[in-house]
Amino acid sequence: MVDYLDRIGAGYVINDPEPLDFDYIPQELVSRAEYQKQLAARFASIDKHEASCRAVITGPVGSGKTVLVKTFCRDLQRHLMNRRNINIAHVNCRNASTSTRVVQRILHAIDPGHPDRGLSIGELLLSLRKLTRRNSSHLIVILDEVDHMLRKSGDDILYQLLRIDEDQEGKGTLSLILVSQEQVLDVLETAVISRMGKTNLIRIPSYNEDELYEIALQRANLSLVKGTYSEEIIRLIAQKSAPIGDARLVIELLKSAAESCEIRQDDHTKREISVDDVHAKDDMLSVDMVSEIDAIDGLNAHAMLVLLAICRRLKKESSMTTGDVENLYAVVCEEYSEDMKSHTTLWKYLKEMENRQLIKTRISTVPGGRGRTTHLSMPHFLPTDIASRVEMLIKKRL
Ligand SMILES: Nc1ncnc2c1ncn2[C@@H]1O[C@H](COP(=O)(O)OP(=O)(O)O)[C@@H](O)[C@H]1O
Ligand SMILES: [Mg+2]
Repeated sequence: MVDYLDRIGAGYVINDPEPLDFDYIPQELVSRAEYQKQLAARFASIDKHEASCRAVITGPVGSGKTVLVKTFCRDLQRHLMNRRNINIAHVNCRNASTSTRVVQRILHAIDPGHPDRGLSIGELLLSLRKLTRRNSSHLIVILDEVDHMLRKSGDDILYQLLRIDEDQEGKGTLSLILVSQEQVLDVLETAVISRMGKTNLIRIPSYNEDELYEIALQRANLSLVKGTYSEEIIRLIAQKSAPIGDARLVIELLKSAAESCEIRQDDHTKREISVDDVHAKDDMLSVDMVSEIDAIDGLNAHAMLVLLAICRRLKKESSMTTGDVENLYAVVCEEYSEDMKSHTTLWKYLKEMENRQLIKTRISTVPGGRGRTTHLSMPHFLPTDIASRVEMLIKKRL
């Protein structure tokens, strides 16, 4: 009778939605060992009771700055258990952009019941000083997206926080980590960085395709039902987000593809994330019609036939080999009664399509063997769209 509710909680595709969430903190970070080490080096003396440390982390959006710092503090707390008690105050300055708000947030992190109404910044700092001194634990303050606060309130608060530590006998109560986007480094530069120590600056880069692939695969393994995603479809998702190099985007794409697959009602089809699922919410990337027309228009007729052959396969599969291209191109030529161009010309067309970002190629070596296979995919466009445009144009060109 209530069959339509059968699907609730069924999770054909998504087993656990949490790892697809923004704030989800994975147990292990993917391919950031180098930067984890760099950060740990800045905190090498943190197990000593008189020690406090500093670090400044910059990098583009989605380069994993926040998750790097959060996992570091989490791991550090565990590592120092029974040796030094570590408290963490992670403040996002986007939501707390004045120095008063920042100190209020820090106080709340170590003393949730702390009254802050009506207290001046001086009084708040005094409270913080008392609390840190009374506690035998060490406080790590993370000012994330600190540029928001620096722009609004200047850098005075940084000096105040550092002084809390330096003023008292016995030192070592407070460590400071600043996190900011790269482009706003100028705001941080000179005074702030010299105060924090030039050598404490860690710059992290955006992710490349392989790293994005690993990040997406980690989340897929944690959240999706086995058998609903292939390595090729994860690769396509990674390729789609690679030009931006943003880990947030690759996770978002995975999530929307999984959701799109989940809500497809036709229970008879295979429950596996498809190419269409990956492109289902393309407004996220604003791949617009204009770029699509630009990319195709200048191609010559036979390049279009090759492209058509590619699209027909990539409607169904997330990648294909150049051997497949050649075979399918032959079929298309027959259909349009055209003679095939040579192998070398075909390669030239593929190169041109790659330059136009219509396709993406990736070379894999067969384990053990000597052969190298070129895999081809279409991460930035929907093959169905390209195919219908090509079919329309091709008649005029031939
Ligand atoms: N190396 C990584 N391994 C696993 N997940 C990552 C990694 N880097 C980033 N992420 C995830 O990608 C998303 C964006 O990362 P985030 O730390 O918020 O980037 P940023 O702070 O630089 O903008 C988060 O959900 C984060 O958990
Ligand atoms: Mg962040």
